[in-house]
Amino acid sequence: MGPSTSAPPAVALYRRGARVLHWLTLALLVLQFPIGLYMTFRGKTLNVWDATTNALYSSHKLIGVMILIIVIARLAYRLRHGAPADEPTLSPWQRIASHLNHWGLYALLVTVPLAGYVGISQFPALDLFGVFSLPGIAAPDKAAADTTFEIHRLMAMGMLAMVALHVGAALWHHLIRRDNVLARMLPRLLRR
Ligand code: HEM
Repeated sequence: MGPSTSAPPAVALYRRGARVLHWLTLALLVLQFPIGLYMTFRGKTLNVWDATTNALYSSHKLIGVMILIIVIARLAYRLRHGAPADEPTLSPWQRIASHLNHWGLYALLVTVPLAGYVGISQFPALDLFGVFSLPGIAAPDKAAADTTFEIHRLMAMGMLAMVALHVGAALWHHLIRRDNVLARMLPRLLRR
C-alpha cells in the first residue's frame, strides 16, 4: 500500500502570534471608529465640550496609541516570521489584490494613528483623562494641527474602505467559495 491519499491537505495557517495580534487589532478598531466619529460629532458638530466628550477623546487617543504599538509589533512579527504561502485556489489577480490590500492596511495602520498623534502634539491636546500627558512628537502649531487632523480623517476613511473590502473578501471566501482563506486566520475552535 502506498501512502494514504484520503487525508485532506493541511491548511497553511498563520502562526498563533500573528492570529492573536490580528484579532486584537480588529477588536480595537471596532471601538476606535465609532468613538472617533461620535466624539467629533459631539464636540465639533454639537459643540458639547463636557466630561463625556473629553472622556471619549481620551479613550480615542489611548486606544489609538495601543493600535500603533500593536501594529509595530505585528509588522516586526510579520517581517521576522513571514506569512503562510498563498491559498492555492487563488487566481493570480486575487493574489495581487490581497497582497495590495494587506500591505495597504499595514501602511494605514501605522500612518493613521501617527497622524492623530502628530495632530494632538501640534494642537496641543496631549492629556489623557486628566491624569496623564502623552509626550509630544511635534512642535505646537494650531494651523498645522487642523491640516493634520484633516489628513487623519481622510486616511481613516480610506482605511475603513479597505477594511470593508478585506472583511467582504474574507466572508466571500468562507461562505461562498468555501475555501480555506479565512480558516488560516481563525482560532482552532472556529475552524471547520
Ligand atoms: C488606527 C487608529 C485610529 C483610527 C482608525 C482613527 C479614526 C478616527 C476617526 C474616524 C476620527 C473622526 C474624524 C472626523 O470625522 O472628523 C478621528 C478623529 C480624531 N482622532 Fe483618530 N483614529 C486613530 C488613532 C488616533 C490616535 C493615535 C490619536 C491621538 C493619539 C487620534 C486622535 C484623534 C483626534 C484628536 C481626532 C479629532 C480630530 C478633530 O478634532 O478634527 N486618533 N480618528
